[in-house]
Amino acid sequence: DWTMSAYREEMVQKIKDQVGDAKVICALSGGVDSSVAAALLNEAIGDNLTCVFVDHGLLRLNEADEVVGMFRDHMNLNVIHAKEQDLFLGELEGVSDPETKRKIIGKLFIDVFQKYADQIEGASFLAQGTLYPDVIESVSFSGGPSVTIKSHHNVGGLPEKMGLKLVEPLRELFKDEVRALGRELGLPDSFIGRHPFPGPGLAIRCPGEITREKLEILRKADAVYIDQIRKHGLYDEIWQAFVAILPVKTVGVMGDGRTYDYACALRAVTSVDGMTADYYPFSHDFLGETATRIINEVKGINRVTYDITSKPPGTIEWE
Ligand code: XMP
Repeated sequence: DWTMSAYREEMVQKIKDQVGDAKVICALSGGVDSSVAAALLNEAIGDNLTCVFVDHGLLRLNEADEVVGMFRDHMNLNVIHAKEQDLFLGELEGVSDPETKRKIIGKLFIDVFQKYADQIEGASFLAQGTLYPDVIESVSFSGGPSVTIKSHHNVGGLPEKMGLKLVEPLRELFKDEVRALGRELGLPDSFIGRHPFPGPGLAIRCPGEITREKLEILRKADAVYIDQIRKHGLYDEIWQAFVAILPVKTVGVMGDGRTYDYACALRAVTSVDGMTADYYPFSHDFLGETATRIINEVKGINRVTYDITSKPPGTIEWE
């Protein structure tokens, strides 16, 4: 008889068996996956766990403060807030190829973890919230030839030179199971219900070159969009919603003046596990109101489009 509470006990024991008295550092992204992984590890090894939250400068508005606050205050975890924006944004300067972006970010993540791991005496494991779909999708695409669609920076063995072993307690689980496990572990509903957020963050929602200016605009537009979705009571019906800022400026008119600003695309999908997805059928009223709010409230955007591509053939993220 399979229950989540039995699974929790089993996982806790497995982690204890694997890790023993060793110290573990956990890659805390603030998403449901790494949050649940951290909570599970905390239960298994308590103070031997240190979480590292990397601020790569590609996070949503207020994300870093919310996540670090929640884990320190609510869950009493050891959390290091690694402020590495300059490192990541510097290395990404001038880069527009999606796979190159992913690879740069993935490599820097490993470098940054190495740096913090070196500061924690006796740390010999790195924990990650890798899920089953991450594991299989990075290897092959359902039904097709074995082809890499996207390099997920949180998948795969870490380089030997890191000298860290990997703990991935969620490797067998799908998203809905991770959420159930999180509830079982007592994580707040507001955290459990959060939409997924990809490791490379806003980098893959900013096709073309990434600049601080574009990121700033994207953050503001995204915050308005999510606010709209919450206000209309739609957040929990949607698997994931976000704004992508497009690498194109278009002409508009506002008041008596001409504008020449960025266009953006709204994305919202329903999905069960992220492997396939349908676009969310917003009402035209909702879309119109949201477009008006974004253009009025976000300087730098003068055109809003809605992405109606399903997955496949599209992917959820733009890169
Ligand atoms: P795609 O865009 O491939 O995304 O349809 C499927 C789901 O995976 C998330 N995603 C990522 N998650 N690291 C992650 O942790 C990544 O590199 C990554 N890329 C995509 C995406 O947000 C969606 O939920």
